[in-house]
Amino acid sequence: MPTRVFGERELELLREVLRSGNLSSLGGGTMTSRFEAEFARALGAKHGVAMNAAMSVLHASVAAAGAGAGTEVICDPVCVFGAVATMYHNAVPVFVDIDPYTMNMDPEQIEAKISERTKAIVVTHLWGMPAPIDRIVEIAHRHGLIVIEDCAHALLATYKGKCVGTWGDIGSFSFQMSKQLGLGDGGMGVTNSDELAAALGLHGGAPTFTAVAHGLHWNYRMTEQTAAIGIAQLERAPAIMEELIAIARLYDQAVEGCPWLIPQRGPGDHQSTYHFWAAGFWGDKHGITRADFQRVLAEEGCGLTMGYTGMPAYKHPLLQERWGYPKGCPLDCPRYTGSGNRYPDGLCPVAEDVIPRIVLAYTFSEKEGHERAAEALRRAITRLS
Ligand SMILES: Cc1ncc(COP(=O)(O)O)c(C=O)c1O
Repeated sequence: MPTRVFGERELELLREVLRSGNLSSLGGGTMTSRFEAEFARALGAKHGVAMNAAMSVLHASVAAAGAGAGTEVICDPVCVFGAVATMYHNAVPVFVDIDPYTMNMDPEQIEAKISERTKAIVVTHLWGMPAPIDRIVEIAHRHGLIVIEDCAHALLATYKGKCVGTWGDIGSFSFQMSKQLGLGDGGMGVTNSDELAAALGLHGGAPTFTAVAHGLHWNYRMTEQTAAIGIAQLERAPAIMEELIAIARLYDQAVEGCPWLIPQRGPGDHQSTYHFWAAGFWGDKHGITRADFQRVLAEEGCGLTMGYTGMPAYKHPLLQERWGYPKGCPLDCPRYTGSGNRYPDGLCPVAEDVIPRIVLAYTFSEKEGHERAAEALRRAITRLS
């Protein structure tokens, strides 16, 4: 462990779906609403709204925040997903820099980026590590903004004893196959707000929400089969998270005392669930080049990856080449009057510096492999120190 286990429990629930003759909640299937309720309960949220992917949840969440042409949404600059969801609505992503050691959005820099056009903040709990979400929510709510927590990496991760995804207004989870709960594909929005649950339910969920729907909406429903596997996998999730945390510990121990390879830091009372174990490589400040580090890692047989995408989200061609809809939208939308749609070099200097330094271990694979990788990492550090 952890390996993907699909066993008798999954088959039992799938048989229940097939026997019902109904593969959709639209026609009265009940598995999706069961999964929504159980997922929400597991996190301590009032509502869950199931969808076919986390991008659908983010899309619907940004819509629920009222973003559209002429508005702005604050995003973090490592992952591009919040910015993409923003641009789906012809709105403009405005990036807030990260803290170099937590790798998450720096709350102290948010206020300077809020304008009269801002509608929401999309904050990622990067690699599974909780962002200082209480501070972010406090700032956002003082300005009347919706907080959308991107928890695609952070299933059952906690901050101050409470699951991430339940601090802000909406939490978005991914069940894409590489994620902690891999269902092939799928997503879930959680919220404590009846109003936001109804807004998300326009696009996904079991149709109790869509019964009162009005206006344009997308069909992002989850199938009953996915929900059935989701219920079974959710029962296994706490044990899997324990395994992922134990795997992350192997790497933490391997780098202990090393001044130039510093594990991603949390915000105090927190528990990451480590979609990735992450660290910052600061060897250049200690006379160790990145090339040497990568060479020695390879020689020792340690398969850690380095640098993630190598660039901040705003350097993505989608934003730099202003791809989008015709007529200059979304980034040069004629209804946009602000200057937040400019993405020069140096916009988020910390993210630009830190992203190439990010060292990642994908945790969801056999523990024995990680034990070998952690040992190899330890040898690499000894050789270079
Ligand atoms: C941080 C983050 N947000 C959102 C997504 C989108 O998830 P999905 O593939 O379920 O749409 C991903 C997927 O990799 C992700 O890593």
